[in-house]
Amino acid sequence: MAKILSGREVSARIKDELKGEVSELKKQGIFAGLAVIIVGDDPASRVYVNNKKKACEELGIYSEEYALSGETSEEELIGLIERLNKDDSISGILVQLPLPKHISEKRILESINPQKDVDAFHPINVGKIMTGDYDFVPCTPAGIMELIKESGVSVSGKDCVVIGRSNIVGKPMSMLLLHQNGTVTVCHSRTNNLKEKAKNADILVVAIGKPKFVTGDMIKEGAVVIDVGINRLEDKKLVGDVDFEGAEKVAGAITPVPGGVGPMTIAMLMKNTVKAAIINRTEKKI
Ligand code: GUN
Repeated sequence: MAKILSGREVSARIKDELKGEVSELKKQGIFAGLAVIIVGDDPASRVYVNNKKKACEELGIYSEEYALSGETSEEELIGLIERLNKDDSISGILVQLPLPKHISEKRILESINPQKDVDAFHPINVGKIMTGDYDFVPCTPAGIMELIKESGVSVSGKDCVVIGRSNIVGKPMSMLLLHQNGTVTVCHSRTNNLKEKAKNADILVVAIGKPKFVTGDMIKEGAVVIDVGINRLEDKKLVGDVDFEGAEKVAGAITPVPGGVGPMTIAMLMKNTVKAAIINRTEKKI
């Protein structure tokens, strides 16, 4: 039976450490503050934003939420970001994705001050992830690295396979594994012999957005399996991109869904917000 990598437990530990750090920083006159912007009424985004706000409260981090109508123009959104860029009480700015179709995601992400870009989605921060010289690591890949550490398996020299090539997870994930000396293969919907490639992985990260896509017969005995997927089935049950029941019989360690990668993403966002507070020397809101 595989070791269960509980994101709930690891994230609670990390948040506990951060809570102490937030309180120490306040004594030095540095106050972490996060601005979260949501445009439109996507129910999943709403849940994510609420969880982010809740985590800020738990840690003593000041937060502001901007819930904008789905009809908000690109110029209005950029105006708000520019104001927050200059606000000395705001350490980090997060624009929840996806955005409505009439707004250019690229233009919005480029308008965020890179020093307040706690998602690490600005092209400057994306570039820094390529070179390994970064302040902010994208939250989901950063959380996954913590879970791999928790498995006790060292990345160095291992065959790492990432299924999915998104800008948010797959691409930065492959860089973080490479920085820790993993041998990385990135697979996607057009990959030939995907099953064979997955089965070669000592560390398998799955972020393809298809329920139970990876089955037990695609996993190497003893592999570390990280499931980034969150899919709601017709019967309302939440499942990952990995068939957990089949996979846990073969894997050495595996993340559950829910309670695996999800809570880690939020803990890493908090970590980036604290880092941003230090970089920007953020002041108390008056
Ligand atoms: N939508 C899905 N994942 C994310 C994330 O990590 N950050 C933001 N801003 N939006 C998302």
